[in-house]
Amino acid sequence: MSGKIAAFHDFEPIQDDFRTAVLNGLSSPQKSIPSKFFYDEKGSGLFDRICHLEEYYPTRTELGILQKYGKEIAHFTGERTHLIEFGSGSSTKIQTLLDAINKPLSYIPMDISKEHLLEAAKNLAARFPEIPVIAICADYTSDFQFPALVPGKRTGFFPGSTIGNFAPKEAADFLKQTRQLLNGGNLLIGVDLVKDHNVLFQAYNDQEGVTAQFNLNILARCNAELSANFVIDNFEHHAPYNETQNRIEMHLVSKTDQIVSVGGNTFSFKAGESIHTENSYKYTIEGFQKLASDAGYKSSKAWIDEQSLFSVHFLSSSEEPS
Ligand code: AVI
Repeated sequence: MSGKIAAFHDFEPIQDDFRTAVLNGLSSPQKSIPSKFFYDEKGSGLFDRICHLEEYYPTRTELGILQKYGKEIAHFTGERTHLIEFGSGSSTKIQTLLDAINKPLSYIPMDISKEHLLEAAKNLAARFPEIPVIAICADYTSDFQFPALVPGKRTGFFPGSTIGNFAPKEAADFLKQTRQLLNGGNLLIGVDLVKDHNVLFQAYNDQEGVTAQFNLNILARCNAELSANFVIDNFEHHAPYNETQNRIEMHLVSKTDQIVSVGGNTFSFKAGESIHTENSYKYTIEGFQKLASDAGYKSSKAWIDEQSLFSVHFLSSSEEPS
């Protein structure tokens, strides 16, 4: 038996957003393209491959924490809750929680990548036929219409340390926004930790070059969707750790002086000049708890793996639902 899926596309990730972001980003003194645009069909597939790389410890470490402490986490979430996942991707990690939580009211995956979202929702509904799945294709960082749900508590799930891809101020705003959407509910969130710089460096500079392909794919996406003429081989992947900011930075560095056109708009690059494509902030436990508290959440519990690589936090709304 296969479960029911309801799908909402309140927000279709429209072309204009991408075009505007690229044109604005490439017009800035430090050229940039927001990392949320990595995730087209190809980029989502490459990201799945990254998650299986030996060097990329966050995915398996977080999964290990969820498996080890699943029952304890379920005790915090309680029964009969709507589980809302922000940026659900392949919906892999949630399965551990769905196994542990008693009778969730629904599972609500939200993602920007429509095909990927629907495929994952279908698979999940087949595995958990008794749980209603409500797939929402949306950019959860922007305003969108959230569907009406049957009354019940809401628990947010934001794994993978995607919070690290926001600047601290944006991260605080995002956390505040989730408090509204969760209507006084709780948030379970995965956060990558500050650690040995070499371990961090390897995680974003893997031997096989999958992260490099993932980074460069954003240029291929510009070519395909925005009539750009990037010569991909004229750029290379750079991902240093910035110690002062506690973040990995991803850049695409121009190997040569060149001019690129994006839908008729031209941009010149000097050799060595970069397009900044991503930040991945790393936190201490205390640093993240401070951020959560500034956003109005109470840190109820943090689980960490034995090597202190990664953390999973249970945040509760300190106010009653409105
Ligand atoms: C999705 N996000 C948490 C990943 C990260 O680690 O910042 C994206 C990523 N970029 C390169 N590798 C993985």
